[in-house]
Amino acid sequence: MTIKHFLSAADLTRAETEALLDRARALKAEWRGAGHQPDARGALPLQGKTLALVFEKPSLRTRVAFEAGMTQLGGHGSYLSANDIDMGGRESVPDVARNLSRWVQAIAARVFRHATVETLARYATVPVINALSDQEHPCQALADMLTLREQFGRLQGLRLAYVGDGNNVAHSLMLMGATLGVNISIGCPPDYRPDPEVLVRAERLAAESDAVISVTSSPVEAVGDADAIYTDVWASMGQEHEAARRRPVFQPYQINAALMDHARPGALFMHCLPVHRGEEVTADIIEGPRSVVFEQAENRLHVQKALILSLLGL
Ligand code: CP
Ligand code: NVA
Repeated sequence: MTIKHFLSAADLTRAETEALLDRARALKAEWRGAGHQPDARGALPLQGKTLALVFEKPSLRTRVAFEAGMTQLGGHGSYLSANDIDMGGRESVPDVARNLSRWVQAIAARVFRHATVETLARYATVPVINALSDQEHPCQALADMLTLREQFGRLQGLRLAYVGDGNNVAHSLMLMGATLGVNISIGCPPDYRPDPEVLVRAERLAAESDAVISVTSSPVEAVGDADAIYTDVWASMGQEHEAARRRPVFQPYQINAALMDHARPGALFMHCLPVHRGEEVTADIIEGPRSVVFEQAENRLHVQKALILSLLGL
């Protein structure tokens, strides 16, 4: 892999993304089989290596997938919450990056402002991974693409509809989907469209992969002919105070049986989790047979392991 850091879903070329997904698939098979085996010297690949997890916001999946992944490969994850280091308060972002680089082999950061992961990357001498920012959630997109590939046996030409807030999760799906030839249709309220710059970038990538990226305010139009329908919470972390105001705006975008009927028969339901049942999706859909949300969650483990190994040149 030629990149040093993984801050955006668009950081990887198509070939690099596909190689990473192949590696994740192999790691998954290994882990579900005999487990990861030590080499001739008795060492697992990440023995003696530490990943710092600098998290300004809560997390279940991202944190545990990184920590468990490090453990399973012989390394260690060191979790640092906002209470521990207060990045930008107790210590500046450049200083956090330069200190951590002296002790650990990689940094995964979950931040409010995307600029914070960029600053960490600028000052760190070890790889920095975006574990979610206001702009992107690229580790999630990797797991989602692996899930889609497992379910359909291919990615090129699939139709993924994302209905809801044009947020960080939507941005990374657009960019990675466009890279891999997945058609993405976004259905969102007019005031909650994806960032226009991300849209332009995704359209450029889609032109190379023969995919189509579209944005509409009609949820029915967005899901038409979709192979999978994806949604996320209506108010992301840090926007909780807007939740009441957003609810009526997003209500027509709820994923329920009536909306699923407009997709292809048997279309999958996807969600990055955590979910607010009864808001962005009804309980019958997320608990139903077409829901792959826990496969997505499991795949976070496998793609994040593949990502760390690749960033460390292993
Ligand atoms: N999907 C996801 O990133 O979950 P967490 O916020 O729990 O890490
Ligand atoms: N858009 C959500 C994703 C959570 C995994 C958020 O940023 O809170």
